[in-house]
Amino acid sequence: MKIIQADYTYIDGQFKKGYAVAFEKKIVLVAPIDEIVQKYSKAEHIETKPNSVLYPGFINTHVHLEFSANKTTLNYGSFLPWLYSVIENRETLVNSCDTQMALGACNEMLESGVTTFGAISSLGLDLQACIQAPQRVVFFNELIGSNPQSVDALYQDFLQRFKASSQHQDNLVSAGIAIHSPYSLHPIVLKKALLLAKEYKSVVSAHLLESPAEREWLESSTGEFKEFFEKFFNQRSAITTIDAFISAFDGYPTHFTHCVQANDKELKKLSVQGHSVAHCPRSNRLLGCGRLAIEKLIENKLSFSVATDGLSSNTSLSLFDELRSALMLHHLGDIHVLANLLIDSVTITAGEILGLDIGQIKEGYEADLAVITLPEKPTQEEDIALWTILHTQKVNQLYIQGEQHV
Ligand code: BEZ
Ligand code: FE2
Repeated sequence: MKIIQADYTYIDGQFKKGYAVAFEKKIVLVAPIDEIVQKYSKAEHIETKPNSVLYPGFINTHVHLEFSANKTTLNYGSFLPWLYSVIENRETLVNSCDTQMALGACNEMLESGVTTFGAISSLGLDLQACIQAPQRVVFFNELIGSNPQSVDALYQDFLQRFKASSQHQDNLVSAGIAIHSPYSLHPIVLKKALLLAKEYKSVVSAHLLESPAEREWLESSTGEFKEFFEKFFNQRSAITTIDAFISAFDGYPTHFTHCVQANDKELKKLSVQGHSVAHCPRSNRLLGCGRLAIEKLIENKLSFSVATDGLSSNTSLSLFDELRSALMLHHLGDIHVLANLLIDSVTITAGEILGLDIGQIKEGYEADLAVITLPEKPTQEEDIALWTILHTQKVNQLYIQGEQHV
């Protein structure tokens, strides 16, 4: 048994003083310090520095490790030029990202307090890194392909990757399913994938309404995607509509990434169906997709996480860099309220989205913990979330399944 205490402990969305946590692989007891010390007098006692805050380990629900080699290769500023550059450089990028490089990316997340991440895997090349990484991983096997002639082959390939990733629970890896997007996956395959998800109770994720061009293509088969689909797929019109795509997920809560271009009606529908959104502000900025109106998500009670996306559309995988960007970007609301919501989005909400007992300091939950240390004593304790986001570069200590990794 171990006991950890910090000046503040994040419990039920609040920063509590005078608390301690007893844990083994899981959290055993969360209670006032005296009570814990009395009950577990022989436990190993872990000290933290003054002005530390004990958080549940942070969760990055959406990252593409296979593209970790990108720095100055891909074309930023607008979605279609970026997509063309991905297609042109995909092989080189993917081949230059070996397991060592992917593990480096996992380590960058670890240093920013990430104890669980959702890895969107196009090819399965990042599975070994996810097995070796200390973190918990939901390994989202991606399905992509709009050509009806190749649906069987691509589904079989996906199934093999799905099965391979299902065999590493001992290394904290669980298998999930990623639908690439409404414009790139044939509805027949989508249907099969959702049946599989239901059978295995897998977590499902899908990119949705990321760019203005995507919206235009799905609505009227025009715009920048027209030339793209003619050139690469000899395809003249979209394979689905926005409504048909979203409705395919009815009754199966899904984690939709981006949704920057979703309208009020669509956001409402996502909320009613119990879906959630992965919000990647830096990726959206770099690919010219616009600002996600998170105030509308809040208004519609639509759950969201903040996530980094991959290095194919970002400069770092630090979750704190991402949170700072979100804090600066969303200027309309109260900054204090926003800071608390953002911390919630990468802890409690993200844990619920991934369907694991993580993201909360709560008895019976996994002992995944992160300690951050504020540079000084906070004068307003109600601003601890804000100070955490503004001042944290790296966490001070980090535990996964009760074992220390930072
Ligand atoms: C497709 O297979 O249809 C596709 C692949 C990549 C991007 C867009 C579409
Ligand atoms: Fe993504």
